[in-house]
Amino acid sequence: MNRAFLIIAGLILWALPAGCGPDPAEEKPAAPPAESAPTAPAAAHGSRAHPVTAQTRQTYQFYCAQCHGTEGHGNGINAPYLTVPPRDHTKADYLETRSDEYLFTAIQKGGLAVGRAPCMPSWEYTLDKDTIHSLVSYIRELCRCEAL
Ligand code: HEC
Repeated sequence: MNRAFLIIAGLILWALPAGCGPDPAEEKPAAPPAESAPTAPAAAHGSRAHPVTAQTRQTYQFYCAQCHGTEGHGNGINAPYLTVPPRDHTKADYLETRSDEYLFTAIQKGGLAVGRAPCMPSWEYTLDKDTIHSLVSYIRELCRCEAL
């Protein structure tokens, strides 16, 4: 990881409180995704088009764990400071109601793009599409679930 990444991650976190108020009135209607992600067939774990690699796990620990927790339970060190709790990525009852495309858009474009809280940042300028797809696979691994 180079220093620029750390600075960018720091800036994102620093800028967050401004866009992370408790008032959901700020919520914009969900914007349609600018481009539709390729539809991965609802495959069993391990046979996904974008499998989870060591790099996927590292990316999650580096960019996501401070809010979502090192094991995805939504209890990262930053979580107490957010007005909306980070999603627990191990909770199948919620995540199986979400498609892979939805999770992809939430990560790529941020919470607002899917009608959720802006405390979930947009990662489209930080992570490439393949990495985001593999993070979706990783979340499916954490929740041990697929979209219903
Ligand atoms: C600054 C804290 C923060 C960071 C960093 C963060 N998230 Fe989130 N994330 C949130 C919050 C808060 C929510 C819940 C939004 C809501 O419920 O309205 C969320 C929700 C989500 C959701 C589910 C959207 C939904 O319907 O609730 C996914 C998927 C997700 N995050 C993935 C990631 C991934 C992958 C990363 C790392 C690349 C990441 N997040 C980094 C705060 C964060």
